[in-house]
Amino acid sequence: MKARLAFALILIAGAAWAQAPSYPDWAYAIATPQNAATAPKDDGTVFTLPGSQGKFTRSQISGAGLKPPADWYPNDHPTMPALVSTGDPKRAITACASCHYPNGKGRPQNAGLAGLNAEYLARQMRDMKAGLRTSSEPRKRNAQQMIFYAKAMTEAEIAETAAYYALLPPTVPIKVVETAAVPQLRSQDGMWLPVEGAPYEQIGARIIETPADVEREQLRDPRAHFIAYVPAGAVAKGQALAARCTMCHGEKLEGRGIIPGIAGRSPSYLARQLYDFQTGARRSPMAAMMKPAAMKLSGADMIAITAYLAALPMKP
Ligand code: HEC
Ligand code: HEC
Repeated sequence: MKARLAFALILIAGAAWAQAPSYPDWAYAIATPQNAATAPKDDGTVFTLPGSQGKFTRSQISGAGLKPPADWYPNDHPTMPALVSTGDPKRAITACASCHYPNGKGRPQNAGLAGLNAEYLARQMRDMKAGLRTSSEPRKRNAQQMIFYAKAMTEAEIAETAAYYALLPPTVPIKVVETAAVPQLRSQDGMWLPVEGAPYEQIGARIIETPADVEREQLRDPRAHFIAYVPAGAVAKGQALAARCTMCHGEKLEGRGIIPGIAGRSPSYLARQLYDFQTGARRSPMAAMMKPAAMKLSGADMIAITAYLAALPMKP
């Protein structure tokens, strides 16, 4: 983008109504002693998934011990670069696929990468390396791990992994459901899971992103769906707010050039980023362009806009 246009956009976006940063606690799913859940243990059981030839134990699925994680559907994606499929045990780099999945779908507690602009993705890793992108939440351990990997990566690896994830097609859509009540929740590794059989509770000012099928998600099925429970009216309110975002992120919010797509993405991930722009945890020169738009969002706005964005198709 030309410098003068960028400057004009900053001026427009910088107008009035700045809000104080608003911590979206729901987007972090930080466990408390009351709601902490642990992942099921590997008891040697071998699992399968519909439409996959794969047969894996839980340790093989997650790639425990810096081993390559399961690739359930090798035909869903091109050949992965070594760092994506295998990582590098010598440098303690976990395979990217273990968190972001081979198809780039990711999980609510990390990030979906599929189909984002390659230059954008590479820039994020460089920013993490340079200390220009951190997490506002010191308890978010996987964000610290991500920064550790970025620091360990070479420029060639950054470019190669970014190019890989940029090529991938959109992943399964998130089902957005407006509701007054949600299941009681437990937090497992930064992801909300329903407490079986417990009474429902008010949703209040939260979005709850949770697997449509908990067992499939425990098997890290990259084709499995997520549901985002959102408060009544959030989507329509978000649609109105989104008029502020299209000039940079594209008419359908699908991304424009080196500005990333925000449509069809995890509302938890998006809300954490909006908060990180507000607090300055994301503070690169490009993040400075985004900051004024983030500063105008209240906590309720953040819920509305991320509910609306999650419901959109990634690529129209
Ligand atoms: C332990 C899990 C984990 C692994 C392994 C991992 N990441 Fe990440 N990654 C994360 C988390 C967590 C975030 C973002 C967290 C946040 O800001 O909320 C992230 C964010 C990113 C982003 C920024 C996405 C965006 O939209 O701005 C990129 C790019 C990325 N990772 C690339 C990689 C690559 C390439 C690898 C392999 C070398 C990798 N990651 C391995 C957890 C992981
Ligand atoms: C003036 C241009 C501009 C406007 C207006 C704008 N953005 Fe952005 N946005 C950016 C840029 C540039 C980036 C990339 C920042 C970077 O590279 O760190 C970005 C990044 C983001 C990200 C991070 C995506 C990721 O993968 O981590 C989110 C979320 C986001 N914007 C949401 C919004 C929302 C919601 C609105 C409307 C309320 C909005 N933006 C309005 C320019 C803008």
